[in-house]
Amino acid sequence: MLNAFCALLLAAFLVPSTLFAQTSTLAATPPMGWNSWNLFAGKVEDKDVRATADAMVSSGMKDAGYLYVNIDDTWQGERDAQGNIQANSKFPDMKALAGYVHSKGLKIGIYSSPGPKTCAKYEGSYGHEAQDAKTYAAWGFDYLKYDLCGFRQNMMAEAPNDPQKANQMMKDAYEKMQKALLATGRPIAYSFCQYGWDAVWEWGPSLGANLWRTTGDINATYDRMTLIGFSQAGLSKYAGPGHWNDPDMLEVGNGKLKPDENRTHMSLWVLLAAPLLAGNDLSQMKPETLAILTNREVIAIDQDPLGKQGDRVSEVGPIEIWAKPLKGGDTAVGLFNRNESTLPVTVKLSDVGFAGGAKARDIWQAKDVGKIQGSYTANVPGHGVVLLRLSK
Ligand code: GLA
Repeated sequence: MLNAFCALLLAAFLVPSTLFAQTSTLAATPPMGWNSWNLFAGKVEDKDVRATADAMVSSGMKDAGYLYVNIDDTWQGERDAQGNIQANSKFPDMKALAGYVHSKGLKIGIYSSPGPKTCAKYEGSYGHEAQDAKTYAAWGFDYLKYDLCGFRQNMMAEAPNDPQKANQMMKDAYEKMQKALLATGRPIAYSFCQYGWDAVWEWGPSLGANLWRTTGDINATYDRMTLIGFSQAGLSKYAGPGHWNDPDMLEVGNGKLKPDENRTHMSLWVLLAAPLLAGNDLSQMKPETLAILTNREVIAIDQDPLGKQGDRVSEVGPIEIWAKPLKGGDTAVGLFNRNESTLPVTVKLSDVGFAGGAKARDIWQAKDVGKIQGSYTANVPGHGVVLLRLSK
């Protein structure tokens, strides 16, 4: 009797501390890695994931901090007679694949939906949450992207005219999987993908989200990428170690994005302390793409241990200035030009906390600018950025 009482007492203490451990040790800085969707969409298969893991190591991406190799939608097959999810023929042996990725010193991620079907109409986790979480853990997965998708139909069917009830259903669904993941005992980073609905940044962290999408899907165009990136103003207070706003995966190196546009993409994402999940072909990168993705000083802004997201300082026509506080009193400042041709951009140092002057470094140029006072003006190319690191 006494033993049972002690066990209960112990469990009461253990549950909240496990919950805490899950979010505080996972994603202490924004997750970095790669995801299959932007490049392969529905065509991803086992060999692509292996080749990506190989290339992540051989290209130097791993050394730069990229860690997760994430399989997105379309890996799922049928359930067996006991209801266990199985991979489809593109993925003959998930456990072996996870082992291969781990053997490279990397981690591996998987994708599902709280609905009966995923966005690409593959099998979702609805009614099988605990079972699926166990399967992912047994296979050796380290990360789950959980995409609302098919669950929207459940919400519409059960609460067609009751958005409050529908939102509660959504939260319950994310909580169900949180509990299922925790019950496996395996640390699995938990990525919410519900496009920012119902201000997810306010409630996602309490349901175990290590990251949550804040918008609809990105694509490899300057317009879509900047529409998403520059719409993140005001969200900085919701991010912190263990829990991050996710403006979607990187398109650096994809489509027709020009070098200045790729630098804008990367600069904006690091100022936002965004997860850095590359979405390009790592086995065939232009040196210029690799240089942008692996620039150590740029990545250091994203991964800064203070864990503060940056925010907009000012917006005047096509000119935007964003700043992110860094550990030790430094500040990263982005001078963005959304115009198509070059414009002079001026930042007033008092606007970014350096009324007394600063020491400046131009990060993409890898050059010390030296001491600056009052304000600083740079000619910023069309669709481009000048990224500064200021210190006292
Ligand atoms: C949604 C997500 C994408 C991707 C696809 C897969 O659109 O937002 O990131 O996962 O589903 O079907």
